[in-house]
Amino acid sequence: MGRLLLTSSQVSVVLSAAIIFLFTLALFLSGYVLQQRYVHTLQAAIKPRLPKPLPPPRAIPPPTLDAKWARPMGGRPEIDETYAQYIAGQTMDWSRLGYVQVVREHVELCSAVMLLSDLHRMKSPAKRILMFPRLWLATSEDDTYGPEMSTTRRLLRTAARRYGVTLMPMEPIVEGADDTLPSSYSLASLYSLVDYERILYLQGPGLLLDASALDSLLAFSKSEPMAAYPATPERTDLSTSLLLIHPSQQSFNQLRTLRAATHTTDLDMFRSTFSVPGSLLSEWSLSMGNVVYESQHLRNVIDGFNATVFEQATTFVRLSDPEIAGPEYDIPFSDRVKIRPENVEAREAWSKLYERFRQRRMEVCGLDLETYSPIVLEGLAAKD
Ligand SMILES: *[C@@H]1O[C@H](CO)[C@@H](O)[C@H](O)[C@H]1NC(C)=O
Repeated sequence: MGRLLLTSSQVSVVLSAAIIFLFTLALFLSGYVLQQRYVHTLQAAIKPRLPKPLPPPRAIPPPTLDAKWARPMGGRPEIDETYAQYIAGQTMDWSRLGYVQVVREHVELCSAVMLLSDLHRMKSPAKRILMFPRLWLATSEDDTYGPEMSTTRRLLRTAARRYGVTLMPMEPIVEGADDTLPSSYSLASLYSLVDYERILYLQGPGLLLDASALDSLLAFSKSEPMAAYPATPERTDLSTSLLLIHPSQQSFNQLRTLRAATHTTDLDMFRSTFSVPGSLLSEWSLSMGNVVYESQHLRNVIDGFNATVFEQATTFVRLSDPEIAGPEYDIPFSDRVKIRPENVEAREAWSKLYERFRQRRMEVCGLDLETYSPIVLEGLAAKD
């Protein structure tokens, strides 16, 4: 009897031990599953996004009128992700592909950092590089700086620490030129970045709406000395609004020699060095929509313009309206009213772009808009 009782209490001990074990196991397993799921989500969140491959080459009728520039081409085409392209994306050496901003004046710095911060926020896997006058790194003896230089030094630090930007100080393009003058610096310095296979330069100030289209351009293009965004839909000239470049010492020397002989603008220098249409981005790489769009074209949109479709089909908008100084300046409302688009949808899109720029400027640089004064405009006119 006693023996049997002992056995039954033993059984109950074993049973409860088994139950506790099972519960613990279940608890552990569910915890493990949850944790794995969390880790996967985390990995997906951290992992840089791989770009979509470019659409296959196909014949596209060239856009003709201004109104056509202003019309989105019906969204980005759906693309099949072929295995080969997928693998190309997987094994691509992203450390040799980069986005570059070039600043020559203090006032341009925030817009450049904003663009690079957008690429960071949109998880582009390519490098982000900022070129600026080496002079800005000169330390003062008592470590105090004027308000302009203090802001500049703060923004350079922010770019490097918060947005992972590689800082590349540059020298004047012609040896011995006055390093305090913005005109002593040139886009030709892009060619000095010979450690990179391909770099993409965007002319600011503007807003990036979609980094993946640019990542595709960087990843799936051939390396050529120059592939520039066409100045006109007719593709008769290159512009400097977007440049895809294979840097080389040879091109760098060639451009530097040219600049030393004649003082030309960057645009004229590139136009006399690279021929069109050979040095333009191919039509099919531009077939994904509005790769670069200038805000002033929103004034020429045709009826039926749809702001939602426009945003979806547009990669980068350069905020450029010739009558006003730039999105960095606090332009009086009465002046804005005079130049904003008449089409209601386009006007809304236009105002939204300028407002978004103002907000991002505050978020990224902690800067209000610059005070507007007509002197600024005169200064700009004199420069052109
Ligand atoms: C714009 O296009 C979107 C998406 O195609 C659609 O949902 C929306 O109704 C359109 N808006 C107007 C005003 O036509």
